[in-house]
Amino acid sequence: MPADSKTKTTILKLRRHKRTKEKTCMVTAYDYPQALIADKAGVDVVLVGDSCGMTTHGYKTTIPVTMDEMVNHCEAVSRGAKDAFLVGDMPYMSYQPSDQIAVENAGRFIKAGMDCAKVEGAMIDRVKAICESGIMVMSHLGLTPHTRAKLGGYRVQGKTAKSAEIVLDQALRLQDAGCSFLLLEAMPTEPAGMIAEKLSIPVYGIGAGDRVDGQLVIFHDLVGLFWEFKSKFVKRYCEAGQLIQSSLEEYRQEVKDGVFPAPENFYEIKEEELEKLLGDSSWKYETDRVENLAKPKHSVTPITTKRD
Ligand code: KIV
Repeated sequence: MPADSKTKTTILKLRRHKRTKEKTCMVTAYDYPQALIADKAGVDVVLVGDSCGMTTHGYKTTIPVTMDEMVNHCEAVSRGAKDAFLVGDMPYMSYQPSDQIAVENAGRFIKAGMDCAKVEGAMIDRVKAICESGIMVMSHLGLTPHTRAKLGGYRVQGKTAKSAEIVLDQALRLQDAGCSFLLLEAMPTEPAGMIAEKLSIPVYGIGAGDRVDGQLVIFHDLVGLFWEFKSKFVKRYCEAGQLIQSSLEEYRQEVKDGVFPAPENFYEIKEEELEKLLGDSSWKYETDRVENLAKPKHSVTPITTKRD
């Protein structure tokens, strides 16, 4: 594995962001070109999220996503993003069954080039086990899609004082268990900000207001490549889907009209070769080849289907 680039974002830089109040910018990516683009744009953290289930595989939820699929995405992203800090998202049932399974699967993310593994929920024992194995963990609280049925659906969390206190308590226990980062999903601004203030580790948000230490947006939401639904917290910065579609429509039309390919897209043959080709029978070379093939150079034992 190549050594990290000199400009690679590390945990030290991310902690410094928190100290100096510089906001950390995070985006998801699932493949090589997305990772290259995110890296070139100077995004600090790339999350290979199991949201790939919906954005890339067309599943209705993240639940069907497997470890093998995630590892595949992580490997592609790690080849593209040289500078961003990389987080691999542990999919459903890759960490719940036991500490050992959690550690083994977190290890697969590190082998796939990730810097850190993200674990949903207040999984204190699992987080402790992974951290003790030397792997950094980003915990994920608030709206946790793996337990959406238990939460009564995709609902904003921490809207009452009591539920916000529960999230704060879970966050503190996860920090004590050794997790290095916390991500809050779909929470009101004030409780999320209070949690970011109370914790010494960086606390990021996706739909958790502007008082946290950094922001995450899903790549496909940001560039207009996901159409199933649009959460309130999403800001679309462009409509890449529309741009790609109109380019494909133009391409299709040009093929139908014979406009594409044009001479600048053609390969050339030298004039003298073209003259030879046009002057001779177009079958000459083919005939020679077939004749040569028909004459075996060595004596050949014929294949027989007869048995002794
Ligand atoms: O999978 C993902 O991208 C995530 C974010 C929605 C937090 O977990």
